[in-house]
Amino acid sequence: MTLIEPHGGKLVNQLGVNGREASVSIELDAMALSDLELIATGAYSPIEGFLNKKDYESVVEKMRLVDGTPWSIPITLPVSKEQAESLNPGETAELRKDETVYGRIEIEEIYHPDKEREAEQVYLTTEYQHPGVKKLYDRPDFYVAGKIQLLERPNREHDKKFYLDPAETRALFKELGWKRVVGFQTRNPVHRAHEYIQKAALEIVDGLFLNPLVGETKSDDIPSDVRMESYQVLLEKYYPADRVTLAVFNAAMRYAGPREAIFHALVRKNFGCTHFIVGRDHAGVGDYYGTYDAQKIFSQFEEGELGITPLFFEHSFYCIACEAMASHKTCPHEDDQHVILSGTKVRELLRNGEKPPKTFTRPEVAETLIAGLKHKEAVKQGQEG
Ligand code: ADX
Repeated sequence: MTLIEPHGGKLVNQLGVNGREASVSIELDAMALSDLELIATGAYSPIEGFLNKKDYESVVEKMRLVDGTPWSIPITLPVSKEQAESLNPGETAELRKDETVYGRIEIEEIYHPDKEREAEQVYLTTEYQHPGVKKLYDRPDFYVAGKIQLLERPNREHDKKFYLDPAETRALFKELGWKRVVGFQTRNPVHRAHEYIQKAALEIVDGLFLNPLVGETKSDDIPSDVRMESYQVLLEKYYPADRVTLAVFNAAMRYAGPREAIFHALVRKNFGCTHFIVGRDHAGVGDYYGTYDAQKIFSQFEEGELGITPLFFEHSFYCIACEAMASHKTCPHEDDQHVILSGTKVRELLRNGEKPPKTFTRPEVAETLIAGLKHKEAVKQGQEG
């Protein structure tokens, strides 16, 4: 059985100890550390390091690497002006966080990006209130480019069994005999609408790769440890065990809407998915993107260029009159029959210990989330007190 080809044709593997010893040292932030590992394991294939100026500008302007391969989110390593002045092309730098050396970079170039242009093109806004733009602006102002190596795995926040490299998920899908695998990205608990579109997709493929993002998210998103508990409870009660693989996607959330949808799809292709779900306002935040902009952006690529098939879903909800999950494509009833709650409202309910209606969230999921959030709050209060 042959699996889908990685993006660019070859799965990158930069796990190793080859190359020169480092002569200088660069401190990573959490986002750069997660990117380092994802580059090294091939999740970002064909990228082998932090982008050089030409590739960076090409990604920002054209959503492509210089060689024409589609790529929508710049993967960069920011350093301060002082640090930039101390680095030279041709040197090897160790990549450190706190006291640990995680990897190395062969410095190809150090450059000063136009971050406002990056914000405008990638996030479609230059507003500092946008969490992705804020992150972009808050990071240091110079970018270091070059091929990397991973020497040490970052600490694991979740059970080790949920950390699978692309080579491992590929081997697993093969073993399971899954020819068609649909990837699902989420930074939220899995509510009934998510379950509905996942299962609708599962009706036409062999397996579901539930791949929640667990890297940095904005502070009011539900923490990933609480979410991980809730996914397991949901899978155990409501999904066939032999049709679902749960593994974490340890990247930072960019909230870049349409551009991030392309990125999310390409990464899941590297993990071995043939299909990828894009629903309502994928990777969106606030009112920055139109409800279906993250679907429309796929038409900017020729058939086959991305190599993974997006599955688009309409905004889904429970309809009281239908007594079923539905969308405007399948339900004729008025909006007052539809159970729709905003993410903010749901988080507020959960934080107050109240369960959203079971037409919105499975009761077992709500209970797990409420208990998890309560526990976190108690720990926080204990630390503060
Ligand atoms: S995301 O930022 O990770 O995209 P979220 O966890 O809310 O956020 O969404 C995960 C996926 O489910 C995305 O593809 C999103 O478009 C889709 N989605 C979320 N809610 C709905 C809904 N009610 N109807 C249809 N699709 C949805």
